[in-house]
Amino acid sequence: MAIGKFNSFSFFLLAIVASIFTQHASATSIDASSLCKSSKDKDLCATMVNGATNWHDAIGNAINATLSVANELQSKSGFVAASIANLPPSIKETCKESFQTTSDMLHEGLEHLAAGDNSSLHTKLSAALDTECTDELSDHGVASPIANMIEDLHKKVSVCLAIMIQNENVTA
Ligand SMILES: *[C@@H]1O[C@H](CO)[C@@H](O)[C@H](O)[C@H]1NC(C)=O
Ligand SMILES: *[C@@H]1O[C@H](CO)[C@@H](O)[C@H](O)[C@H]1NC(C)=O
Repeated sequence: MAIGKFNSFSFFLLAIVASIFTQHASATSIDASSLCKSSKDKDLCATMVNGATNWHDAIGNAINATLSVANELQSKSGFVAASIANLPPSIKETCKESFQTTSDMLHEGLEHLAAGDNSSLHTKLSAALDTECTDELSDHGVASPIANMIEDLHKKVSVCLAIMIQNENVTA
C-alpha cells in the first residue's frame, strides 16, 4: 500500500516535470498563428514571418519583407511624378520623403532589433507607418498607379507592428 502510494506520487511528480518541459518548449518555439494573432491580415502575416519559430527572426523577416516594398516604391518615385505630372511638384516631393521615412525607420528598427532594444524598435515601427503620400494623393483625388503598392506597404508595416506587440518584453 505504502509502495503503491509512493509510485503514484512519483508518477504525479513526473507528470509535473513533463508539463514544465512542454511549457518551456512552447514558450521558446512559437508559430505564425501566435505571432500573428494581433494582425488583421493573418495570411499576409504568415507569409512575412516566413517560417520563423521565434519572435526575433519573425520580426526580422517581416521588416525585411516590408523594406523591399519601401525600396521598390523609392525606386519608382520618378514614375510617380510622371503619372501625376499635372499636379504640384510638391506631391512628388512628399511621396519621396514619405517612402524615405518608412525605409529609414525600418533600417533603424533592424539596428535596434540587433541591439535587443525592443522599445526603440517599437517606436521606429510606429514611425514607419507614414501616410503623408497617400493623404496627399487622396486630397488631390489622384488615382495613382502605385496606390496598390502603397497600400501593400502600409499593410506590411501594420503586420510588423502586430508582431511587435507579441514581444512579452514590450509593454507600450
Ligand atoms: C534582412 O535583410 C538583411 C539584408 O539583406 C540581411 O542581412 C538580414 O539577415 C535579414 N534579416 C532576416 C531576419 O532575414
Ligand atoms: C527583446 O526581446 C527579445 C525577444 O523577446 C528578448 O530576447 C530580449 O531580451 C529583449 N530585450 C530586452 C532588452 O528586454
